Amino acid sequence: MRAAIVDCHCHLLPEIDDGPGSLRDALKLASLAVEEGITDAICTPHVVPGVYNNTTEAVRIAVAAFQCELSRAAIPLTLHTGAEIRITGDVETRLKRGEIPTLAEGRYVLLEPPADVRLPRLDAYFGALIEAGYLPIVAHPERLLWAGRHIEEIIGYVGLGAHLQVTAGSLVGFFGREALRLARWLLETGAVGLIASDAHHASRRPHLLGDARRLVEALVGWREAERIFVANPQAVLAGHPLVLSDQGGRRPLNKFRFSTQFIRPIEVAR
Ligand SMILES: [Fe+2]
Repeated sequence: MRAAIVDCHCHLLPEIDDGPGSLRDALKLASLAVEEGITDAICTPHVVPGVYNNTTEAVRIAVAAFQCELSRAAIPLTLHTGAEIRITGDVETRLKRGEIPTLAEGRYVLLEPPADVRLPRLDAYFGALIEAGYLPIVAHPERLLWAGRHIEEIIGYVGLGAHLQVTAGSLVGFFGREALRLARWLLETGAVGLIASDAHHASRRPHLLGDARRLVEALVGWREAERIFVANPQAVLAGHPLVLSDQGGRRPLNKFRFSTQFIRPIEVAR
């Protein structure tokens, strides 16, 4: 039997956020996911108050409807509910009320800090969520515009019990040199908990998991690649604890090592 390959962060559902704008586009993106070897996708539409007001109920309905469309189109992909939740003051309350979704109805919560503003006391914020029984996963920290100046703080979240989700495209240069530099930095320090696609569109924002996996194997080896691409995403789906890296974030940081001068970002049709 084929091992489950779980994508814990993707925007597959049609017309619910900035993912596919039509059912046709969504089916194309789902087909690409299968081509990438993905068997299970946790659908994580944005929850951003006033912009994307997605609720647990709305996501469940959209997942069930799109699962039917996948069956009709004979696309072998199993969907699960989830959300990418913008960090705001009321997230814990809304989670407790069941208003906004966890990942696959478990304890893991995918949280998106604001990209351009560093919120104070995020460590305390994650600590309070953990105290309340949730397991925070920080969505693509390498893409935060303030991450380069505060990388030690971000790595420190792992010590609190939070996890870092790096996006596959960042590792291959799809989001520019700074995201690439920071993604590789997190990878080399052993701070990455899992990789996900954050796919939005078949050509404009594809999965790129295969490209990223080849690169990660070359950089840190098969075992580490298996942990962050396969074992930990499976653990999120199953509600099991994530396995931390052997490096455990203890590998010393070397800011000068991560020059991307000689790395050519891959080209993807837009
Ligand atoms: Fe996302």
